[in-house]
Amino acid sequence: MGKRLEGRVAVVTGAGRGIGRGVAMLMAEEGASVVVNDLGVAVDGTGVSASPAEEVVEEIKNAGGMAVANQDSVAEYESASKIIQTALDSFGRIDAVCHVAGILRDRMVFNMTEEEWDAVLQVHLSGAFNMVRAAVPHMINQSYGRIVLFSSGSGLGSSGQANYSAAKEGMVGFARSVARELAAYNIAINAVYPGGATRMTATVPDSTRQLRSQQQTAAAATATRQAPTMATQGAPIQGPEEARDPENNAPKAVYLCTEAGGAITGQVIGTSGWPMTLYSPRHVTKSIHKNGRWTLDALDELMPISLGAGLVNPVPPTPPRE
Ligand SMILES: NC(=O)c1ccc[n+]([C@@H]2O[C@H](COP(=O)([O-])OP(=O)(O)OC[C@H]3O[C@@H](n4cnc5c(N)ncnc54)[C@H](O)[C@@H]3O)[C@@H](O)[C@H]2O)c1
Repeated sequence: MGKRLEGRVAVVTGAGRGIGRGVAMLMAEEGASVVVNDLGVAVDGTGVSASPAEEVVEEIKNAGGMAVANQDSVAEYESASKIIQTALDSFGRIDAVCHVAGILRDRMVFNMTEEEWDAVLQVHLSGAFNMVRAAVPHMINQSYGRIVLFSSGSGLGSSGQANYSAAKEGMVGFARSVARELAAYNIAINAVYPGGATRMTATVPDSTRQLRSQQQTAAAATATRQAPTMATQGAPIQGPEEARDPENNAPKAVYLCTEAGGAITGQVIGTSGWPMTLYSPRHVTKSIHKNGRWTLDALDELMPISLGAGLVNPVPPTPPRE
């Protein structure tokens, strides 16, 4: 058992299974007292069960660690604040929050219901705000905090996941802004792009997996010609079966919650598989300049030979459907 988190208190949302479970187990192994939060829902967010959170608490205790279970939802402001309150009531403080809880309601945008949109944004994006908002006043008082938001490479674009992508990339913008607001209080916040073979990835139908993989391969092939580093974005996990173990995410996410991890804030870190990766911030790659307002005639003329030249679109040109 390590000592990097001794005396620290951590909340891990969605810790009853999958990636969150591994994070909670390692937090406890490093000496943190852990609130294992999980609503125990199905992948689409329906149904509730107390057992996933309780089982992980049992595992942590059996391994000699300290943990309590919590089954409140991250999705609503009041219930999310009860998760942080559980940390305060049980262990007296809150030092780290990993927001891992997540659901899927995959659907093409032209079929997506308002409810499917709202449910996904509520758990991932509002969940991030709810958890951060409840924890941060306590972190400010103690001048210490570490926050990791589990985003997704799908935020870079993924067919059938407009709701999920919007929520996940929203979490990145949220982390970047909050990092600026909280740096003065020794609070670091980062977004991670995780990955691993869990029940969540098992729900993706083969046909969808194939479509996403074809689009990724085509975009990566063009990107490699343009800018070699872009080719790895959102790519499937490489290497043997063990590389797909969801527990591979835990050391990298837990590192961000240590004292040393405080040197990193407002970043996007890839934790999937065996590598640990740093994503570039978004920046201007090309620009055309004019002293004054552009006309459409001028843009018609210049675009194909300037910003539009050799453009890497997320999907290759596709013939229109009848
Ligand atoms: N598995 C991957 O390859 C992958 C890739 C990119 C991002 N992610 C993200 O990583 C996170 C974990 O994914 P996973 O694959 O372990 O999924 P999972 O389904 O195995 O675990 C998610 C957990 O979140 C819990 N949960 C859902 N809604 C909740 C709520 N409102 N309040 C509290 N708990 C709730 C569920 O009960 C479940 O135990 C998710 O945010 C997911 O979007 C996963």
